[in-house]
Amino acid sequence: MEPKYISLDPLLPWLRLPKPIDWDQVFGSHRPIEVEIGFGRGDYLVSRAKENFLHNFVGIEVGWISIRKALRAISKEAISNVRLIQSDARVAFEWLFGQESIQRIYSLFPCPWPKKRHQKHRLFSRDFLRLLNSRLETGGEIMLVTDHGPFCEWVMEQAQGTGLALELETIGPSFGTKYEKKWSRLGQKEFFQLTFHKVEHLDIEEKKEIALKTHRVADFFPEKLILRGHKDGAVVVEFKETIYDPVRKKAMIRAFVAEGAFTQDFWIQVVNRGDYWLVGPAKGSSIVPTWGVQKAVDLVFEAIVSQQEVISH
Ligand SMILES: C[S@@+](CC[C@H](N)C(=O)[O-])C[C@H]1O[C@@H](n2cnc3c(N)ncnc32)[C@H](O)[C@@H]1O
Repeated sequence: MEPKYISLDPLLPWLRLPKPIDWDQVFGSHRPIEVEIGFGRGDYLVSRAKENFLHNFVGIEVGWISIRKALRAISKEAISNVRLIQSDARVAFEWLFGQESIQRIYSLFPCPWPKKRHQKHRLFSRDFLRLLNSRLETGGEIMLVTDHGPFCEWVMEQAQGTGLALELETIGPSFGTKYEKKWSRLGQKEFFQLTFHKVEHLDIEEKKEIALKTHRVADFFPEKLILRGHKDGAVVVEFKETIYDPVRKKAMIRAFVAEGAFTQDFWIQVVNRGDYWLVGPAKGSSIVPTWGVQKAVDLVFEAIVSQQEVISH
């Protein structure tokens, strides 16, 4: 029977935690860390965590429905050595894991994006494998299982220059996950298992939060505000909407910031503080302070300043 109560405790509020995460503190124990990428319903993550109670497990998954199912499975098994992260895996490895901190990483049946025009969405690119290398301990390994031959070949090509030695095996159904069962039902008897052994460490620093700077301006005319976004190789900023409350003398501007795979959607406020207006992230916005967030705040400030220059001419 499914448990009625699903504890949200295993789901980490990672945006608010100091980064990289102190996993020993999170788990309350110093044990080898294993990470599963795209755990789906959590079939393998939960069964492996149950069998290996002297290891700690972190699951990374973008989809909320999958996370809910995994939370239910964790509740049902009453295990305490699993934590879940809702995030794109690239962002999670860049920010949340220190270098040489993980013993084993695995991903079962990751999306193969079979169409040529969609290949850019494939996760296991050379850059991603290099990032995983830096987060693996000496002697650590990555295991990837796929049903898809062309995707398997593509991943093998990506492995060059990643400090990882590759081993390929064909295996029968071994993990009991939803996608393994799906392909087995459709008649597939063999899958490709790629094991990457770390042979050389690549140094890729963890991403760090910055100290955000707010701005002060003497005047602000909300009806005349013209905001323009920004795009370069590192960051995209777009402004979505502006709301102004004349009673509180407060404008709220919704900003969207993308830095690689890391996207943030938050509000910037321009609020009257007596003889000046303060420009900065709005209270209650859940943000990770990055250069992209700073860029968005600076663009709002610059738009207000240029408005004043126009008015004073
Ligand atoms: C084809 S399913 C496989 C699920 C499960 N491993 C299984 O074998 O049944 C791929 C999973 O990866 C997740 N996923 C896709 N891209 C991701 C990313 N960039 N970061 C984290 N998870 C991702 C999807 O939400 C989905 O649950």
